[in-house]
Amino acid sequence: MTVAATIPVIAIDGPSGSGKGTIARRVSEALGYHLLDSGALYRLTAIAAESQNIALNDVNGLAGVALGLDVEFDSNEDGSERILLSGKDVTRQVRLESTGAGASTVAAIPAVRESLLARQRAFAEAPGLVADGRDMGTNVFTSAALKIFLTASAEERARRRHKQLKDKGMDVSLAALSRDIEDRDRRDSERSVAPLRPAPGARILDSSGLSIVAVTNTVLEWVAEL
Ligand code: C5P
Repeated sequence: MTVAATIPVIAIDGPSGSGKGTIARRVSEALGYHLLDSGALYRLTAIAAESQNIALNDVNGLAGVALGLDVEFDSNEDGSERILLSGKDVTRQVRLESTGAGASTVAAIPAVRESLLARQRAFAEAPGLVADGRDMGTNVFTSAALKIFLTASAEERARRRHKQLKDKGMDVSLAALSRDIEDRDRRDSERSVAPLRPAPGARILDSSGLSIVAVTNTVLEWVAEL
């Protein structure tokens, strides 16, 4: 399945904690575009596998889980996200660091990635899509109108993630988080299938020391230039 050439897609890829999620949400709101948080699909695959007792080395089982995900992305009245998996609210579980680690393990399996491909591409609907992940520009939306590789220093990414989790009432040490982020970066960059790297033609944006508003505005300026 390919993506209709007429639907503009803004692909934002980058490592954990680079701010992709926040920036993608703001840009999609500013443009009135749909939003794809592709990482959530890998996270949900890890959660569903665990609840169905599918082992992390059962490649076919995991691919089946990914294909059959029954997921609903919703929002609460205050605009915060709400994610339902087979009708069950898993919003909090989705964002746990342990879920992120499980996600990066299942994401290294080619059959799992293949299972999630059509589902991701189906998000490309009028008037447009902002898609965030690791391989939006390199694999899923190769003809995206704009490809961005958003990055930040490892220390800043760990600090941001720490604040984000603390704000959600989750207690994690900064040192443990830094280690998790480094491990995950390594797994995501070194895997043989869809490794994390800038797509050809991607614009690199280093958000270290920049505010959310400044990064969002830069992306919107690039969109305006299209
Ligand atoms: O972005 P997020 O932290 O939610 O992603 C969780 C994990 O899912 C990543 O560490 C990565 O291994 C995997 N992922 C991926 N491809 C994507 C999005 C996420 O492999 N497009």
